Amino acid sequence: MESVRATSQLLFSLLFIFFLLSPISAKTPVADSPAVAPSAPVPPKTKSTPAPTVPPKSTVPESSGPPNIITILQKAGSQFTTFIKLLRSTLVANQINTQLAGRTQGLTVFAPTDSAFSALGSGALNALSSEQQLHLIQYHVLPAVYTLSQFETITNPVHTQAGNSENGQYPLNITSTGSTVNITTGVVNATVTNTVYTDDQFSVYQVDKVLLPLDIFGRKSTPVAPAPAPLKPQKAVEDAEAPAKTTEVPPPPPSGAIGMKHHGFVAVILAMGVLKALLL
Ligand SMILES: *[C@@H]1O[C@H](CO)[C@@H](O)[C@H](O)[C@H]1NC(C)=O
Ligand SMILES: *[C@@H]1O[C@H](CO)[C@@H](O)[C@H](O)[C@H]1NC(C)=O
Ligand SMILES: *[C@@H]1O[C@H](CO)[C@@H](O)[C@H](O)[C@H]1NC(C)=O
Repeated sequence: MESVRATSQLLFSLLFIFFLLSPISAKTPVADSPAVAPSAPVPPKTKSTPAPTVPPKSTVPESSGPPNIITILQKAGSQFTTFIKLLRSTLVANQINTQLAGRTQGLTVFAPTDSAFSALGSGALNALSSEQQLHLIQYHVLPAVYTLSQFETITNPVHTQAGNSENGQYPLNITSTGSTVNITTGVVNATVTNTVYTDDQFSVYQVDKVLLPLDIFGRKSTPVAPAPAPLKPQKAVEDAEAPAKTTEVPPPPPSGAIGMKHHGFVAVILAMGVLKALLL
């Protein structure tokens, strides 16, 4: 009788330990699964270096100096704040001003308005790497000065500062008749809406669209898509929803736990069988 009681006590403690352990083994995998975080959404905008004010050449008076792209755009009104910000953060403003000061070549700048940038949707620019932002802004600069009438006889494709003239990267096409100047990148069609500045070395034209180069925006979306930008926020939303979805789908971990539970149960049955055999 003593041995039977001892055996049943042993059995009960086995069962007790088993049930004590099984919830833990079932819980741990579930607790682990949310830790598998989905890929982080769009990284925050690369820190915009505080616009370095051009060190003044003390010998040359400001008034008689070469044209300054920032000054020209600011004088034109308040519609170029985003473009000015990008010209500064990418340091393209300095490149332009240095080239103009060197007087070695003329330049033409297509300046998109703030509404052209906002049409891209928030986050579209932040989704670009700093190198892509640099190429995007350089794409708005032609390495020669053009008057409006010269656009009528221009040879397409036209090279931009974003690509060198040999490799044919970052080209755009310009078609013009009379006072209408159209620019096509293969992704967007833009129109010159105003002449902001022009002299024998430098031209600045206002455009109604951000010139999106095929080299950056062509691979991400189908050529038919008018603006790839709206896809970005949508994707961000999907990413944000992802964690909620993954926590809702815990089948894999519990199935493993059930397997363990089953093994434990079999072990207990076996132990019971062995003990019973020993008792008989
Ligand atoms: C410019 O584009 C407009 C449509 O956006 C079109 O009506 C016009 O014919 C085009 N002009 C040239 C010269 O390509
Ligand atoms: C630009 O013009 C060239 C030469 O006419 C043409 O081959 C090319 O397809 C055009 N590209 C776009 C995007 O219109
Ligand atoms: C740009 O204009 C051309 C013809 O002028 C047209 O075939 C093309 O679909 C237009 N692209 C966009 C993105 O509007």
